[in-house]
Amino acid sequence: MAGITDRPFRSFMREMGCGVVISELVSATGLKYASAKTRKLMEFDPTQHPVGIQLFGETLDHLRDAAQMVEQAGADFVDLNFGCPVPKVVNKGAGSACLKDLNKLRDVIRAAKSLLSIPLTVKIRTGWDQNTRNSDQVAQVAYDEGVTWVAIHGRTRAAAYTGLADWDYIREVKRTSPVPILGNGDIGSSFQAHSRLLESDCDGVMIGRGCLKNPRIFLEANNLAVGEVEWSSILRRLREHLEAFYEERMILLQMRKFAAWYSAGLPGAAQFRKDLFFLQGRQEVLDRIDRFYLGNQGLAALDTSHEPFLMGGHG
Ligand SMILES: Cc1cc2nc3c(=O)[nH]c(=O)nc-3n(C[C@H](O)[C@H](O)[C@H](O)COP(=O)(O)O)c2cc1C
Repeated sequence: MAGITDRPFRSFMREMGCGVVISELVSATGLKYASAKTRKLMEFDPTQHPVGIQLFGETLDHLRDAAQMVEQAGADFVDLNFGCPVPKVVNKGAGSACLKDLNKLRDVIRAAKSLLSIPLTVKIRTGWDQNTRNSDQVAQVAYDEGVTWVAIHGRTRAAAYTGLADWDYIREVKRTSPVPILGNGDIGSSFQAHSRLLESDCDGVMIGRGCLKNPRIFLEANNLAVGEVEWSSILRRLREHLEAFYEERMILLQMRKFAAWYSAGLPGAAQFRKDLFFLQGRQEVLDRIDRFYLGNQGLAALDTSHEPFLMGGHG
């Protein structure tokens, strides 16, 4: 997830039980022109394996070279983004625009794969719009080209983040797909992760926003989260990961963001979020976070608000 799955967050989530992590989307053209900012997006540390780097781009040469750079950097796989609905990406013919032209999609996969010896995976939406859903055809192309898995976000490009992910459609695609399918969309709890996996018969599920409210979702899904929620140690580990990578301003920004997200469903959350918004001093903010989570130590967050949450992104 762009703006979220940066290096410290990926390390944190691996530690919290996530099986495989993938970077934010990285522009192949940005890598070509050696943009320092773009290169930073694909940094990872050894604790993250297996880790994939997600690429997008419209120029085949750039994609081929970028995929090679990912391999040389030691990542475990390259993931291609065919799901991004954002106009800036789509208008250049990249991201979900490729779903409208399967020949182009094939060319992109071929170019990225041409010099790779590590696996290539793809991430798609169900189609461009409701009338042109074509994940079954995409899966066939992916299979023909030797792709390792296809991850499907169960919405069309036209739907953006509205409505619900269509897991019936994902199941239908999985039923006939010659290539492994990972299902994705709206998994908010470990219980849901299990039921989606079971009902869709997918080869795996992918969780995005669900881990932004519940940092234990992967541990819980793998039955490894035992006992009460140790909020203080969870927040401390998050901070330690951030401290290893960012300077103070960014650490504070991130701590504020995650502390607010995790609080949904805990007693006193509304006031806590207000306080976080108004408090300015670094120490004041960190103390408030410590106090809130110490007060809620042991409690599981029960978020029944059904508020829309992060209704926009690059996939
Ligand atoms: C803030 C944000 C950024 C995202 N960035 C990416 C991205 O860079 N690449 C991608 O494939 N998907 C991206 N996505 C889409 C998610 O990977 C996922 O497909 C989508 O949010 C639905 O799954 P979820 O309900 O589990 O979050 C992003 C989503 C959000 C909310």
